[in-house]
Amino acid sequence: MSEVLILGIETSCDETAAAVVAGGCILRSNIVASQVAEHRKFGGVVPEIASRRHLELINTVIDSALAGAGVTFRELAAIAVTRGPGLAGALLVGVNTAKTLAFACGKPLVAVDHISAHVAANYLVHEVAFPAVCLVASGGHTSLLCLENRSSFRVMGATRDDAAGEAFDKVARALGLGYPGGPAIDSCARSGDPAAFAFPRAFLGSGDFDFSFSGLKSAVVNTLHNLRQRGEEINAADIAASFQAAVVEVLVAKTRQAAKDTGARSVLLAGGVAANRLLKIHLAQALAEDGTAFFYPPPELCTDNAAMVAAAGFDLYRQQRFAGFDLNATPALDILHHE
Ligand code: KG4
Ligand code: ZN
Repeated sequence: MSEVLILGIETSCDETAAAVVAGGCILRSNIVASQVAEHRKFGGVVPEIASRRHLELINTVIDSALAGAGVTFRELAAIAVTRGPGLAGALLVGVNTAKTLAFACGKPLVAVDHISAHVAANYLVHEVAFPAVCLVASGGHTSLLCLENRSSFRVMGATRDDAAGEAFDKVARALGLGYPGGPAIDSCARSGDPAAFAFPRAFLGSGDFDFSFSGLKSAVVNTLHNLRQRGEEINAADIAASFQAAVVEVLVAKTRQAAKDTGARSVLLAGGVAANRLLKIHLAQALAEDGTAFFYPPPELCTDNAAMVAAAGFDLYRQQRFAGFDLNATPALDILHHE
């Protein structure tokens, strides 16, 4: 089915993105207009600014994706768009653009959930052996999924409070490392001692695949507060390294156990936190010991992009699961209860 061309559109947060994917796995073009620079001065994403920028950028980004792939609207099999979860106003720009294009060009419309899209980034770069376990860790989500195949999965666990990426962002902010926090902590931690501070790890009991990162975040913030009150010098690298070590230890232990319990043939990473260097190193070591294959997308496919939306859209297209023109953005879309 390599001739099936899907246009993907992604506007759930602060990246305006469009991409063309052939046959669900061949990347023909991948355009991402990042707004990070605009939001950085506010220390995080400002929803109103994000929606306005999506509106300004979306048509140019789609044109570039089609031109980059050398295809016209006429050649597309379907138009896939992120319907949620995400920021309401931001999602609406993508959803309304996709509906308009699908209607005007007479193409089927496919509504993709953002989590499945992150998982599907793996299919653009690897031949995945199923069953697989996927750790999805982004700014908004931390979940462990058991995948039977490309179109069917079961949620094994999810965060009870903060997402892993959110913890990275908040700790980076407390350390004055800027936004987005994940890459800043990743690089700052390289020169730090991961054993300098004994931050808590929330394993939540054996056989529990849920996560909790708010206690860890508070522990880091309290430590910083106490050091400042005592007028002691703050070694940001040591704090960043100790925090990162705590997050990674929990993510690795739970993912490894999930793979063992389900007899997974491979483990996948997805979402922005999948770009984390230490996470990849430690998981690779653990899974090599267990003889489980380990895959992760390159960093540019880990963070938000539309190629992953087109890849996930292909699976829905194959099953003829099309959306109607009454499609609406679903900001709080919950994959636990979404069939
Ligand atoms: O998937 P994504 O681009 O957007 C969401 O759907 O949330 O993920 C963004 C998150 C941010 O919290 C960012 O700090 C985190 O991914 N992130 C990282 C790294 N790169 C991005 N976290 C840890 N290490 C990284 N290298
Ligand atoms: Zn995302």
